[in-house]
Amino acid sequence: MSAILFTNFQMVSADFKSQQAKTSMVVKNGLIVWIGNKIPKALKVSKEINLKNKLVFPSFVECHTHSVFAGSRAEEFEMRNNGVSYLEIAEKGGGILSTMKATRAISANELLKLSQKRVDLFVQQGVSTLEIKSGYALDLKNEVKMLEVTKKLKGPRIIRTFLGAHARPPEFSSNADYLDYLIKKVLPEIKKKKLAQRVDIFIENKFFEKEESEKYLKAASDLGFRVTIHANQLSLSSGADLAVQFDAHSADHVIHLNDQQIKNFSKSSTVAVLLPTADLYMKCAYPPARKLIDAGAKVALATDFNPGSCPSQDLSLVGLLARLEMKMTLPEVFKAYTSHAAQALGIDAEEGDFSLGKAANFICTDAALTDFFYSAGRTPEHLLFIRGKQVKVS
Ligand code: NIG
Ligand code: FE
Repeated sequence: MSAILFTNFQMVSADFKSQQAKTSMVVKNGLIVWIGNKIPKALKVSKEINLKNKLVFPSFVECHTHSVFAGSRAEEFEMRNNGVSYLEIAEKGGGILSTMKATRAISANELLKLSQKRVDLFVQQGVSTLEIKSGYALDLKNEVKMLEVTKKLKGPRIIRTFLGAHARPPEFSSNADYLDYLIKKVLPEIKKKKLAQRVDIFIENKFFEKEESEKYLKAASDLGFRVTIHANQLSLSSGADLAVQFDAHSADHVIHLNDQQIKNFSKSSTVAVLLPTADLYMKCAYPPARKLIDAGAKVALATDFNPGSCPSQDLSLVGLLARLEMKMTLPEVFKAYTSHAAQALGIDAEEGDFSLGKAANFICTDAALTDFFYSAGRTPEHLLFIRGKQVKVS
């Protein structure tokens, strides 16, 4: 396949602190094969695209979402706003289990239609790679249905994560029995059908505790899955320790962390994924982003889009909260939504920055970097290219 030459753009530097005018890039088979100022004379290209001095930077990687689900939890939000807690709602069979009922009941076709609209909304905001977790069906048949739907979604690259260990469904009377079912029946099937690359678990009081989680993570790792963990969201727990112990791609939420856990992140390749819009909706503290970054840990940002703790898909609000409430600088927010988010998904060798050989996924805009993560609900006008092809946003 022949190459595409992009010319005349301002390339934003890897640290998002400066830009290089009159840059050109050659893309072959979707990958960046050359970047520079002097176009090689011998170069054979099938197409040349002049980007007219626009700014170009890596497109966004949204590394933590629960975008495939049915039903709404708007009434629960009203209850929470009137003082009923997330855990109280969960104990009465609401919360994750209420989404489970709706997700089990819906047909695969209807679920696909609902989910595709949500995916399109991410793409409109410059997202070229999107992580989606299962975990709203909690039985073999319907978890498979969720993941198969995820496979059919169009637009961005999708990274699929199996989150069967999200909550215990009513058919099981103990966590031990449910996790045993996941280990013996469900994980091997997910593996065989190649439905997910990674496994996630919600480690928290009243959800999954340390020892049972450790056994589950070991079984998942033994089957060849990389892991990621919903960790330390509602309390100081061992989730952050297990993430480092199991060489997890990421530990997500991580609001309640002790100094030792922060130090452990800085020495590991596990990325701390921070989800501030969920913290806004849950009315809880924001994670210690400054402490993590200053200690040398890698920090990524994501929406955590889901019907319960974060019914918002707004990337600009995520970045805005990181800037306003977590003292992250604008360049740190861009890195957290590009290269660090790619690392949080274990795909940083393939995308997330402009190294040669990586996917040509980029945003091209007349706006300035300071126009991004500035106005909640608004992404500056831009073009999105995924693997060198402009994406028509529906
Ligand atoms: O990331 N913490 C666990 N899971 C989701 C919430 C899921 C739900 O409430 O439906 C989260 O916040
Ligand atoms: Fe989540």
